Amino acid sequence: MSGVLLFLWLANIGFACAQINGYKDQPLSQIAIHKATFALRDSASIRARPSIIGTKGEDTDLVTVILNNSEPSVDDWIGVFTPANFNSSSCPPSEDQKGEQPFVCSSPVKFKYANYSNSDYTNTGKATLRFQLINQRSDFSFALFSGGFSNPKVLSISNFISFANPKAPVYPRLAQGKSWDEMTVTWTSGYNIEEAVPFIEWGLKGESRTRSPAGTLTFERSSMCGAPARTVGWRDPGFIHTSFLKDLWPNSVYVYRMGHRLVSGSYVWSKFYSFKSSPYPGQDSLQRVIVFGDMGKAERDGSNDYSDYQPGSLNTTDQLIKDLKNYDIVFHIGDISYADGYISQWDQFTSQVEAISSTKPYMIASGNHERDWPNSGSYYDGQDSGGECGVLAETMYYVPAENRAKFWYSTDYGMFRFCIADSEHDWREGSEQYKFIEKCLASVDRRKQPWLIFAAHRVLGYSSDFWYAQTDYEEPMGRESLEKLWQKYKVDIAFFGHTHNYERSCPIYQKQCTSIEKSHYSGTVNGTIHILY
Ligand SMILES: [Fe+2]
Repeated sequence: MSGVLLFLWLANIGFACAQINGYKDQPLSQIAIHKATFALRDSASIRARPSIIGTKGEDTDLVTVILNNSEPSVDDWIGVFTPANFNSSSCPPSEDQKGEQPFVCSSPVKFKYANYSNSDYTNTGKATLRFQLINQRSDFSFALFSGGFSNPKVLSISNFISFANPKAPVYPRLAQGKSWDEMTVTWTSGYNIEEAVPFIEWGLKGESRTRSPAGTLTFERSSMCGAPARTVGWRDPGFIHTSFLKDLWPNSVYVYRMGHRLVSGSYVWSKFYSFKSSPYPGQDSLQRVIVFGDMGKAERDGSNDYSDYQPGSLNTTDQLIKDLKNYDIVFHIGDISYADGYISQWDQFTSQVEAISSTKPYMIASGNHERDWPNSGSYYDGQDSGGECGVLAETMYYVPAENRAKFWYSTDYGMFRFCIADSEHDWREGSEQYKFIEKCLASVDRRKQPWLIFAAHRVLGYSSDFWYAQTDYEEPMGRESLEKLWQKYKVDIAFFGHTHNYERSCPIYQKQCTSIEKSHYSGTVNGTIHILY
């Protein structure tokens, strides 16, 4: 097994008990936006500049917002809305004819307190704030609210701001295809297929380039399973394209860019990106793997930070970007963006990790925050997905699964075979998923691929944490039968997320350590090492 190095990463340590607090921790959910009323007054004003951003093709840019308010208050806040027109004209048809239509039906994509950068605001009523916007296929406006988050009143709405090309192709994410020599590129744009043909232009670095077509997906509000995804959290997801780059040479550097050929015959291009193709299965070369879970997102301009939600995600993202030369493939095993039904936040997440996912395969697994919703087919009936019920994760990211709604797949990387399971669907003995897991574990040639790795989101019982290890709340579900499989097929390591605390077990089988070694293992260890995040 020379030349194989396994890197581990720990994300979001400081945010324990996510499964307890659930979706209510999403910062945007603290705002009772459906109760917002209009109280526009001339003595309050909000202006934003410049009016056009991203003029050099950038997909993120800074905007300055200037406030004047003759009756300032400590709980005044600014919401960023996109599309810019967020009044009741954007409300969906009401199912309840007798009910009163709200004035505002869409959540802001982010917010800041008015006194965020000027503590004197409550005396002077004047403040200047900076917001970082990302290209989200539509224009933006800023609204000044009084009444805090529970009783919001719109005092003033800014001029509208727009990216130079709001529909531009953005946020590429790579993933391994169904075979080792295929790389997939998924990205987001505002171009539907009637308007433009999406494709990837690509080739070996320094050689001629070819073009491969892309498939396009999108979905409607009605695909969401409940609130907030179906109500105030809904936002048009744009168009999500995936192209399949096939017959790659192993361990070779490729360059690529996203393109859209408009009906007029002209082209819209992204900038160029590059990646290194995967090694041949069994190929003995340096192969470095990052595994983590539960990262989430945060705003670099300090927006939404009152709840101290996931500032650690920026540290992890930045470290991963700094270390790009030191690893080859990433597995983010569930609880991806924590959008929790606020659809806009998936754009923010894909933007945050772009520098990683555009150049390394970014493989995901499904977690409770992607999938769980009552009566939607998830094994658990919690509401942690905020009504997304898996639709966002399954559409925004490609995984080489037979059926992306059943989030289990195998993928080979040189000397590794990964069997990625879906803890949010039944995996007990006899289930469809169980059969897949056995097939994945049984079908690898261990002389060529000595490392056999299992990964899933929820912990399967071995943890020093009482909550995960001792109660029936989590996953003793299926443990005995899955453990039997791991033992039979000699799984080296099983990775899990969900706990937000790092733990590593000894090689273990039926609650017994199978080796007295503490840190170095070699040969057959007769048990599986469990690693938790
Ligand atoms: Fe989780």
